[in-house]
Amino acid sequence: MSKTKFDPYGEDNPANPKKPASSSGSTSSGAAQTHGGSYEEEIIAVEAPQEIDAKAAKRAERQVATMFMVSVVCTLGFVVAYFALPATATIELPLIGITNASNLSLGLALGLSTLLIGLGAIQWARKLMPHVEVIQQRHLLKPPDSLRKAALAQFSQGAADSGLGQRRLLRRTLLASLLVFPLPLIVLARGCGPAPKGELNETMWTGGLRFLADITYQPLKPSDVPIGGVVSAVPEGLLEVQKAQHNLNERAKSAVILIRMRPDQIRSQQGEGWDYQGILAFSKICTHVGCPIALYEQRTHHLLCPCHQSTFDLADDGKVIYGPAARRLPQLPITVDAEGYLVAREGFQEPVGPSFWERS
Ligand code: FES
Repeated sequence: MSKTKFDPYGEDNPANPKKPASSSGSTSSGAAQTHGGSYEEEIIAVEAPQEIDAKAAKRAERQVATMFMVSVVCTLGFVVAYFALPATATIELPLIGITNASNLSLGLALGLSTLLIGLGAIQWARKLMPHVEVIQQRHLLKPPDSLRKAALAQFSQGAADSGLGQRRLLRRTLLASLLVFPLPLIVLARGCGPAPKGELNETMWTGGLRFLADITYQPLKPSDVPIGGVVSAVPEGLLEVQKAQHNLNERAKSAVILIRMRPDQIRSQQGEGWDYQGILAFSKICTHVGCPIALYEQRTHHLLCPCHQSTFDLADDGKVIYGPAARRLPQLPITVDAEGYLVAREGFQEPVGPSFWERS
């Protein structure tokens, strides 16, 4: 194996802007021309590019094409196994014992298909491309123009060396294997369960439901929300709904915050008279990607989401004044019931939570 060292500071490096005093001067002009060496760069040709034997190349090409095609078969096998094997089917294997047949075949098929694409690419590089080892030292982030030109030349050389243009069989089989490769992802999307219907657009809030303090679940009166204060609340009956549904989905949608300001500080609301003596109720779920929000600055009436800093102006109908949220914070109209507890006048008039919900 021949080893040629290229000195980037050598005088025969056309891209070298300056030759330092310590430079040894031993160079390989061949390497310089082949790889476009340049400023503070060392390139070592471990093995000079060789002519590839045509017969061996043909054999290697067939091997690589076979791997790509077997990869296609494995990917299609994944799809077939997904539909053909019941999720509960089992199989007994030596050493492993009883295992789920569907999981095993899906894993094997996808693993093999990935592996074969990788092995095919490696084999292609090993057998059909010239063997050249290139080491480039780190240097200033902005390279000189000469180095950029050299990099472009190397890239073009690499593209030419790969034979992508001439080896139609390899190109097509590689394309085929990569094209069918995403199929399992599409098939697996079926396993995400039924698509949500209207439940993402609605919460359990409805007219007459009381506001309960979060955690203590005690009903709230206007006196529990001082001016400048912020109180997290949930709808009355939430615990029963959670128990019946065996999940926290309703809590994730229905959480609200109550804040209070002087009525003359409210510049606009989402509906006429939706406050109660300066108390406003807003969804607590950020309209960006759904973080719960409670960072309230009483002086400006801004509510800040801790996740990505979306900021909502609660004195101005909850509109977004900063950050990635695309939609205002939905407001809940409120009043008090006969016993003086805060209640909703009706449900939310627009979907709460991340913006994609309103498009569902
Ligand atoms: S979730 Fe609130 S800003 Fe991203």
